[in-house]
Amino acid sequence: MSFITRRKSLSASQTQESGHALRRTLSWPHLVALGVGAIVGTGILTLTGVGAGLAGPAVILSFVIAGAVCACAALAYAEMATMMPAAGSAYTYSYTVLGELLAWIVGWSLILEYTVVCSAVSVGWSAYAVGFLQNQAGIELPQALIAGPHAGGIVNLPAVFISLAVAGLLLAGTRESANVNFVLVVLKLIALAIFVAVAGMAFNSGNFEPFMPNGFLPTTNAEGTRVGVAAAAAIIFFAFYGFDAISTAAEEAKNPGRDLTIGIVGSMLACTVIYMLVAGAALGAMPAAELAKSEEPLALVLRTLGQPLAAGMMAAVAFVALPTVIMAFMFGQSRIFFAMARDGLLPGGLAQVSGRGVPVFVTIFTGVVAAAIAGAFPLDEIAALANAGTLVAFIATAACMMILRKREPGAQRPFRTPLWWLVGTAAILGCIWLFTSLPLTTMRNFLIWNGLGVLVYLAYGRAKSGLARA
Ligand code: ALA
Repeated sequence: MSFITRRKSLSASQTQESGHALRRTLSWPHLVALGVGAIVGTGILTLTGVGAGLAGPAVILSFVIAGAVCACAALAYAEMATMMPAAGSAYTYSYTVLGELLAWIVGWSLILEYTVVCSAVSVGWSAYAVGFLQNQAGIELPQALIAGPHAGGIVNLPAVFISLAVAGLLLAGTRESANVNFVLVVLKLIALAIFVAVAGMAFNSGNFEPFMPNGFLPTTNAEGTRVGVAAAAAIIFFAFYGFDAISTAAEEAKNPGRDLTIGIVGSMLACTVIYMLVAGAALGAMPAAELAKSEEPLALVLRTLGQPLAAGMMAAVAFVALPTVIMAFMFGQSRIFFAMARDGLLPGGLAQVSGRGVPVFVTIFTGVVAAAIAGAFPLDEIAALANAGTLVAFIATAACMMILRKREPGAQRPFRTPLWWLVGTAAILGCIWLFTSLPLTTMRNFLIWNGLGVLVYLAYGRAKSGLARA
């Protein structure tokens, strides 16, 4: 078999990790909390403003579109995750179904995704932290140290700090804790509920006129930015992912078929409803153009409405809760490295864990690269690049789900996607459409990254792959 088509067997992917069977302790409320904890982050807190700038009040539609595409992909993810509860998620499914080269491209895209998501969430954290220091504590940081060169500064130091700090916590052996996560999820939801209540009282339907100033399909404006509802959906997509956190817990679900369905679909539905309410309240309280100018739009709305206390609380919740989103993605990164190194496609040393069980290289690599990107680049560009990598992984997962239904119809499936052909096709076409609605520079940078990846594969993985040597 050529290196392009060689595949791992389904049984190898299914049994690889069942050596350490995990205890089935999680029920659907835990899974919903896990999902909401990893999903609700910089997307809703900050990109709402970016989206409002691209689509105007019709950014509400962008939320619906991105949520629907993500829900379809999430179902495919649930089916694959329960069939192959493996560390490498989309990479492992692709290796089993699509072959080594495509699996490598998916894995290489995931490495990009996980790194730049950490950067993007760090930039979002920075804006709320800086706003909090300025407005609540009266501490003014110099502009040169809170913004990258794109915004007239030198470096976004708080964003660099939080990337490195989370990596440091992981190196010290800190683990995600279900209890801490639960408390933080509740705090996030309370903060968002207070936001909706306060902003909702200042609702002005006039802010929704004109509703769709930049049209629906992507067009390029005078500044060279792609605008419109679809372009905003391609960015807002960022707000919805993170539910991989649930699918990687497939092995620990008490009743995977039922709990995963409720966990994944439930957290997606919950987030979609919460996001619509938050975005609707924000747009009703402040014109889209004003929201678009802010790096901490929700806190700005509350301050403008004369609610400094609520604004401070929103910033405080962002301050404590966003780092856990970074932590979840840094974990994801180490699982991907681990899976790729185990298959021989990356040097084993890169995925090695220390005596305390910490993947030292991966954590330092992700922390440092994420910090460098967070310090220098604007949030919308970083989030768009993360979305490109994620969209490719979602397309691959949905394709794997559909192909396996045909190829292995009798295989055991603890969770079955309802209307799989419809949901799978919708996920693939929706993700392709969102991908083509991304900024052109993002698509270019993504292609460069994967071109580089293919070179790395040809130079290393093609010969070192476990399947090649077998
Ligand atoms: N969905 C996550 C966030 O919005 C990545 O921060």
